[in-house]
Amino acid sequence: MPTKNVTVVGLQWGDEGKGKIVDALARRCRYVVRYCGGANAGHTVNTGGQKFAMHLIPCGVLNPGVINIIGNGVVFDPVVALEEIDGLAARGVAVGADNLRISSAAHVVMPWHKLQDSLSEQALGSGKIGTTARGIGPCYADKAYRSTAIRAGELTDPAGLRDKIARIAEIKNRIFAALYNAPPMDASAIAKQYAECGRRLAPMICNTGAILRQAISQGQRVLFEGGQGSMLDIDHGTYPFVTSSSVSSCGVPSGAGVPPSAVGVVVGVIKAYTSRVGAGPFPTEQDNAIGSYLRERGHEYGTTTGRARRCGWLDAFALRYAVELTGANELALSLLDVLTGLEEIKVCTGYRRDGRAVETFDPAGMEGVECVYETLPAWDQEIGACRRFGDLPPAAQGYVKRIEQFTGRPVGIISVGADRDATITHQTSIEGLA
Ligand code: GDP
Ligand code: IMO
Ligand code: MG
Repeated sequence: MPTKNVTVVGLQWGDEGKGKIVDALARRCRYVVRYCGGANAGHTVNTGGQKFAMHLIPCGVLNPGVINIIGNGVVFDPVVALEEIDGLAARGVAVGADNLRISSAAHVVMPWHKLQDSLSEQALGSGKIGTTARGIGPCYADKAYRSTAIRAGELTDPAGLRDKIARIAEIKNRIFAALYNAPPMDASAIAKQYAECGRRLAPMICNTGAILRQAISQGQRVLFEGGQGSMLDIDHGTYPFVTSSSVSSCGVPSGAGVPPSAVGVVVGVIKAYTSRVGAGPFPTEQDNAIGSYLRERGHEYGTTTGRARRCGWLDAFALRYAVELTGANELALSLLDVLTGLEEIKVCTGYRRDGRAVETFDPAGMEGVECVYETLPAWDQEIGACRRFGDLPPAAQGYVKRIEQFTGRPVGIISVGADRDATITHQTSIEGLA
């Protein structure tokens, strides 16, 4: 029997508008689950005249009745989580054990992870990755290393935590002094701060995999909320300019503790153009007036770091790879309204290298390619008020159809503005939305 579950993943380099799509779908679901990444994510939801930027807390929290889960695959920063929980409470969104559960197996981002992230980037200079400095890579590295890792379940045992922090901080202090000449961290202050976080979060920390497996066996609908985007995937992205987790739909089973069959319908979110923050190849980048136009109209400044995002044309060649990788069943096309007012719209349909067409897309082979573009007609009407496909100007309809044709996937949802209701339900197969 096919599952009713939904997995929402980004198909580009993150910031595709996943937050809005997750929020739109969440009201049809019982659980919303983060399975990868951590506070490097910045997912925006605009609703009721308010803008919410979510980093660690799943976007389902804005829908009453949804239980939100931070899965074992997430690197969990308890300080950021509590700031976010308090910030939501101050705006009338109550978050507690009724609507948020945190996996006891999620690895904890510690102060030394954030410090190492910054120090290492500084040391790399112009060769830096351009990380969000949220300690993501160092925390996943310790997860793999094991003996210097701390998991969320350990936050609730103050005595054990104090001993472990003392031991690990000593190791980290010696490494940081030798490598970066950094002053030592105060282990007892860290232990006190993290034990206090553990005290507040204890009611929410539990075995989330067991909860999800039971919910799935009872036929309750689960939505898996991807972070980042497929091109930032640790294995399948533009390595080393990637994040440190399995962000595509392939990461769902291990990052949430569910079988692969639980992934359900995969909704691949794409921007109508492309953006990227941080370093790394970006063949369709427009470091010119077109890129600036997209950046200003799309407010392309990072939700997490405030950095200006690099912008360019839609790379349909890379997109087709991401569709194949994630098994996206349908697409959600966002920020279509940003394209209004351009003279023409280009879509990259292939690459050439040394004058020859590149046959097979390879994320490791994007540097130095020449893009093959198809030019499509543009439109000047603002489309933010369109609510049906037929309301869109013919050129915008044509753009959607060309993406469908090239990727071989239907566009299920079209987003024409940041607000929750600026959405067109098109060719979706998700029950309750069609
Ligand atoms: P995410 O990380 O994938 O959730 O995306 P971000 O929240 O980082 O970035 C997407 C930005 O675009 C946010 O500021 C959203 O409010 C905004 N946004 C989402 N959908 C649309 C849309 O259809 N049109 C416009 N103009 N903005 C949108
Ligand atoms: P959402 O979920 C865009 C990028 C960083 C950097 C690289 C590695 O909002 O789409 P990291 O801090 O993870 O070690 O940084 O990955 N990156 C993102 N870019 N959106 C994100 O998340 C990102 N999360 C990480 O800019 O290039
Ligand atoms: Mg984002």
